[in-house]
Amino acid sequence: MKLGILHHDLEWPEKEFKKYFLDRGLDVELFDIRSTNTEKILNANVDIIFNRVYASVANRDYKSTQKALKLYAELEELGIRVINASNTTVRSGYDKYFAYQAMIKEKVNTPNTLLLNGHDPKEELNQLGFPLIVKKNTGARGDCVFKVDNLEEAYSAITKIKSLEDYDGEILLQEFVTPVEPNDYRVAVLNGKVLFVHGRSLISLKAGEEPWLASRSSGSKLIKIDEVSEELKSFAIKGAKCIDSYFDVLDIVKTENGYCIIEHNLTPLFTPQYLEFLGFNPIEVISEEIVKNECIPNLCRAQ
Ligand SMILES: Nc1ncnc2c1ncn2[C@@H]1O[C@H](COP(=O)(O)OP(=O)(O)O)[C@@H](O)[C@H]1O
Ligand SMILES: [Mg+2]
Repeated sequence: MKLGILHHDLEWPEKEFKKYFLDRGLDVELFDIRSTNTEKILNANVDIIFNRVYASVANRDYKSTQKALKLYAELEELGIRVINASNTTVRSGYDKYFAYQAMIKEKVNTPNTLLLNGHDPKEELNQLGFPLIVKKNTGARGDCVFKVDNLEEAYSAITKIKSLEDYDGEILLQEFVTPVEPNDYRVAVLNGKVLFVHGRSLISLKAGEEPWLASRSSGSKLIKIDEVSEELKSFAIKGAKCIDSYFDVLDIVKTENGYCIIEHNLTPLFTPQYLEFLGFNPIEVISEEIVKNECIPNLCRAQ
């Protein structure tokens, strides 16, 4: 069986994934989203494509995430399996509004969200009330997530996102959900089971503001969670299921109305330090699971 890993700038996890897939006897080829296309992938005789084009790529190269989306839709149409799985899942990684709609359909608790249309958003802003979150529809690593307290701040946040050179995607307006704990939860779900859970400390960006933001790049610390409630586990599993994901790291906060999904991360970043914190190598477990489940005889050229 041949597996293609689609990536942008090659980071540590993609090389690590390649190593583990090779160790398990798969043929592996790396494809850079910027220089590949459907034809090249077809000519390479790939059976399965593993998406590792980070959602955060949109922060510096929005076009590449959109190219990846189009490519996956074409490949899926041609019968090539894309891990994380259907077009629904892949799209949910790059389109928070799309993921929001999938969650609402399944009655999974997530902040009320509106897409900013071209017109003056005054009505939408007033409809959601303040404070609210203004953020990019595609992107990650906490880049350009604004908590705004009034119309003026909202307009200023919208202007900032609109003026970004590398981003011309949509903008989201989102109900601000107030965390009732000092940390959020990152819950990794692999093939319907919880793989790991940890927290991130919440931080504030302004003096006098209650901590609300979980973002490693802005200073949140990793937190061990010794006892994970069954409620949190089943909530995360349900959340992953509603976007049909194979592997999903969900950002979840506890609010006074219970757990709430902020975001799905289908292409999470792993670093050696993070693996050390977790105490095991999720890349090894994920690649093992993929090989076990996907290497069915009619797909395996090697057999
Ligand atoms: N609607 C919201 N209410 C409260 N906090 C939010 C909301 N949206 C985002 N946040 C905070 O901002 C962080 C980053 O937002 P997120 O949508 O996960 O973007 P990114 O893709 O950059 O990680 C979240 O982990 C959470 O701490
Ligand atoms: Mg996030």
